[in-house]
Amino acid sequence: MFDAAKKIRHRAYAPYSGFQVGVAIRAADGSIYCGCNVENVSYPEGCCAEAGAVSAMVAGGQAKIAEVLVVADADPVVTPCGGCRQKMAEFGDAETKVYLADLDGVRAEWRLADLLPAMFGQDHLGRGA
Ligand code: THU
Repeated sequence: MFDAAKKIRHRAYAPYSGFQVGVAIRAADGSIYCGCNVENVSYPEGCCAEAGAVSAMVAGGQAKIAEVLVVADADPVVTPCGGCRQKMAEFGDAETKVYLADLDGVRAEWRLADLLPAMFGQDHLGRGA
């Protein structure tokens, strides 16, 4: 997953921030889906790498995240933004691991529930988890 995320990071379109991010998601069936950030001259229209990877996974026919790896050239390592935590939570669960890496390797590991405590979820819609 690290190699896949690091490789796709080079495809990031980040002319405004100059900050490239790569993400690899391993789906429940073992398949890997990747994403990179894609910025836009209308800044809010930019898309995070996590969002791209989630979309690729769903387009690939998978709907369950087993684990996620995020890589960027940053110290401290990048943690996903709030919106992306919610996007990952849609397809993961409390125990889903999110690995955070710099260009040399994984530096931190989080449970999704710890990244997104008190999340808005299915239960709030009266649907049950
Ligand atoms: N970014 C991501 O793609 N994922 C993260 O986890 C943090 C931030 C992107 C958004 C934007 O293109 C750039 O990094 C700077 O914020």
